[in-house]
Amino acid sequence: MQQRTQVGIVGAGPAGLVLALLLRRRGIESVVLELRSREYCEQRVRAGVLEQGTVDVLEANGAGERMRREGLVHRGIYLRFGGRSRHIDFPALTGKTITVYGQHEVVKDLIAVHERDGTPLHFEVQDVQLAGLDTERPSVRYRDAGGAACELVCDFVAGCDGFHGVSREAVPTAALSVFERSYPFAWLGILSASPVVCEELIYVHHARGFALFSQRSPAVQRMYLQCAPDEDLAEWPDARIWSELHRRLAGEETADLVEGEILQKGVTAMRSFVVEPMRYGRLFLAGDAAHIVPPTGAKGMNLAVADVVVLADALEAFYGGHGSAALDAYSERCLRRVWRAERFSWWMTSMLHRDPSGDPFGERLQLAELDYVTSSRAASQSLAENYVGLPLELAR
Ligand code: FAD
Ligand code: PHB
Repeated sequence: MQQRTQVGIVGAGPAGLVLALLLRRRGIESVVLELRSREYCEQRVRAGVLEQGTVDVLEANGAGERMRREGLVHRGIYLRFGGRSRHIDFPALTGKTITVYGQHEVVKDLIAVHERDGTPLHFEVQDVQLAGLDTERPSVRYRDAGGAACELVCDFVAGCDGFHGVSREAVPTAALSVFERSYPFAWLGILSASPVVCEELIYVHHARGFALFSQRSPAVQRMYLQCAPDEDLAEWPDARIWSELHRRLAGEETADLVEGEILQKGVTAMRSFVVEPMRYGRLFLAGDAAHIVPPTGAKGMNLAVADVVVLADALEAFYGGHGSAALDAYSERCLRRVWRAERFSWWMTSMLHRDPSGDPFGERLQLAELDYVTSSRAASQSLAENYVGLPLELAR
């Protein structure tokens, strides 16, 4: 079966779903193709921190109603080191806040809006292949959920299929430059049915390794422990996780960590990765398909949204008869913001994690940096400004 659309979107993560929404609001047609089932996409536990800019985009486009009701507005974070917590006050330093609301909740809300609007979203497609990317009629071939061979002929293809997707792989190797860094540690993440540990997120520097206390709702908490990249979950029974969380949080607030049922466990790899340019012919890469940050700066989903805001504006200019200048500038505009987020995420990661090689000089430098960041207004303002998110205008 052959179908025609203006923009073929591969992937129904935050990048693909927000792009389809922005295009629809601008009267541009799209079709979204997703490998996984709707249920899988709606339950995949990932990011939790939304920058104000991301919140604004969702609200302005009719996908923010539940987030406004259920999202937890945070006024800062705690950095905990040497057994003491220091607060970074975002409104005082930047005039902005962040919102803690699970990525899968954002995905659920976006899918519901698309369902209401009648945007074509095809789940459980297989064998997605991109063709004719360097022509004016690129296409996406795939098999639908029932196994039937389909072809989507488009003006443009948006590769929003994440780090392991097929879009980036469809670009000839010589046309892309890859920049990457790996880290000798990972995060063991849990969701637990337990009360809030603290009103703000706590990022912990500890001799036993990094820990992060985040939230999902008043009754469900999200917490992470630094672990090895090849960590075997079988070696982490619940009791060991709780004991490690208690030890890494040890100090004044220990009493606040109440153990509850662990609802989900997983290991997240840490990587920095960027491809340049984020475009090949009529294929535009957006979100994790083009770049990955380690999660310490809470930037990944926010970057994905920032990319598609730029892309939607550029496509609107193209279809509005203003030519392809904005599309030609897409990659450069996105990369400016991407590299700033890469720098921030790398810096937060390097400052907070225990180096498995156990370099004592490096540990002293981390502590000096944390001391500086929490005692100098200039340094804490720099952290806060990056954490709450650079203005979307940076990319425009
Ligand atoms: P994805 O969410 O990966 O979506 C890509 C979609 O494409 C998926 O649905 C996938 O199934 C689909 N797909 C893949 N291959 C194909 C194919 N061949 N055909 C069709 N579809 C395909 N970011 C933040 O901003 N804040 C945070 O606090 C934060 N915390 C994080 C914590 C963890 C533990 C992790 C793992 C990530 C975190 N991130 C955070 C990062 C964030 O989750 C990602 O950056 C974000 O999901 C990127 O969105 P995306 O739409 O680009 O990619
Ligand atoms: C999360 O709540 O999942 C979360 C919060 C902050 C981060 C990363 C993840 O830096």
